[in-house]
Amino acid sequence: MTTAVCPGSFDPVTYGHLDVIGRTAALVDHLVVAVGRNAGKSALFDADERVEMLRGACRGWANVTVEQLDGLLVDFCVARGVTVISKGLRSASDTDYEVQMAQLNRRLSGVDTVFVPTAPELAFVSSTRVRELAAYGGDLSALVPPEVAERTRARVRAAR
Ligand code: PNS
Repeated sequence: MTTAVCPGSFDPVTYGHLDVIGRTAALVDHLVVAVGRNAGKSALFDADERVEMLRGACRGWANVTVEQLDGLLVDFCVARGVTVISKGLRSASDTDYEVQMAQLNRRLSGVDTVFVPTAPELAFVSSTRVRELAAYGGDLSALVPPEVAERTRARVRAAR
C-alpha cells in the first residue's frame, strides 16, 4: 500500500492545488493532504479553517484524507508510513525552492518527493493571487471553488 502526502499551506485551497491532489490520488492507494504553516508567510485563515475548506473540496475522492501538519513534514511522514511527498510545480520559478526542500527532506528521512506539473491552464493560480484579488473585489471563480471564494471574500471584508 502506497501512502503519499500533499503538503502545503493552502491559504486558501485553489483549483491548482486540487488538480495536483486529484492527480496524485489517482496514482497511490491513500493520499494525506497535510495542512501546514509556511514560516515565511502570514496566514489569512487559521489551520482549522484551512483543513475544513480542504475537507469540503476533497470530499469526492474516497482515498484522500486531510490533516493538520504541526511539526516537521518528515516526522509526519514517518509517523504515518508515508513514503512519497507530492508537490505541484507551476513554473521554473517554483523549482529552486521545491528541489531544495525535496533534497533536505530526503536527507532527513529517506522519503522522496515527486513533482506534478500543474495543468497549464492553472499555472497562474496561487493562494497569494486569490487573497489579493479578493482584497480588490475581483472575480475568484476561475481560481477557487465557490465555497472557498465566499469564505475568502467574507474574511477579507471582515479584515477591512
Ligand atoms: O504551500 P507552501 O507554502 O509551499 O507549504 C509549505 C509547507 C507547509 C509544505 C512547508 O513549509 C513545510 O513542509 N512545513 C513543515 C515544516 C518543515 O518540515 N519544513 C521543512 C524543513 S525546514
